[in-house]
Amino acid sequence: MTDSAWDPRQYAVFSGHRGRPFTDLLARVDAPAPRLVVDLGCGPGDLTLGLARRWPQARVVGVDSSPEMLQRARELDAEGRVEWVERRAEEWDPAATGDPVDVLVTNATLQWVPTHLRLVPTWVQALAPGGTFAMQVPSNFEAPSHRLMREVAARHARAEELRPGLERARAVADPQTYAALLLELTPDVDVWQTTYEHVLATTPDGPHPVLEWVRGTGLRPVLGVLDADERDAFVADYARELETAYPRRSFGVLFPFTRTFAVARTGGRRSGVVDG
Ligand SMILES: C[S@@+](CC[C@H](N)C(=O)[O-])C[C@H]1O[C@@H](n2cnc3c(N)ncnc32)[C@H](O)[C@@H]1O
Repeated sequence: MTDSAWDPRQYAVFSGHRGRPFTDLLARVDAPAPRLVVDLGCGPGDLTLGLARRWPQARVVGVDSSPEMLQRARELDAEGRVEWVERRAEEWDPAATGDPVDVLVTNATLQWVPTHLRLVPTWVQALAPGGTFAMQVPSNFEAPSHRLMREVAARHARAEELRPGLERARAVADPQTYAALLLELTPDVDVWQTTYEHVLATTPDGPHPVLEWVRGTGLRPVLGVLDADERDAFVADYARELETAYPRRSFGVLFPFTRTFAVARTGGRRSGVVDG
């Protein structure tokens, strides 16, 4: 595994906080008895297995580009309940599942897929009639955690090599863009944004918890470019900035995190609140 690869153990450190938006997303999915459910960018599989528990009769497929994440998912799925597929979202063909997809979930993944605004309509159009598309992406690229990462990278001797990995994460659009994109396809669209005030536990001499959080996600492209000494220096520089931006307090560190959600249901039946 390279340093830029996904590390399921590091990712799992904050699994409680990371699971909350998934729960909030799925709460808006009104699908009583789907036959085929796909989790695109399923990661280590714990949340995908939650889909299998919610819909025990459904065939559930987890797709991810990371062999490390899928290995962890297979370990968790002792009963072989889910079909785990190694594929990049860019190359995933809904038709390859053999049946029309009733529920397509993609949680905290499309920020890694710069072409997703072109792909989402093709996925929605391939859904079964009455099918649901549900996505969630982080909208925190202007937050101190990410701005400071870019600033430390910009003053680094290898700034030019670090930039592409950091810029890729800007692929996320604003909520209105997702709403308009989906409303072109179906009138039953629900888009919203939530800021979670995560309280991250900390110890006086322990690593800064925001650093530990981004180590599992957004910092990977940087760490993958640098050698061991450079990585240590980068992390020390970045950690100093984080200590100021997210101070340690008696209860821990407050880490506000904004996320964008979109749910679209095909077939034209409105499932939300009736206007007026
Ligand atoms: C932040 S994790 C989210 C995992 C899971 N959905 C969750 O909510 O915990 C992002 C996942 O997207 C996967 N990923 C990144 N780029 C991808 C791509 N182009 N195609 C498919 N999966 C991708 C990663 O391997 C990783 O498992």
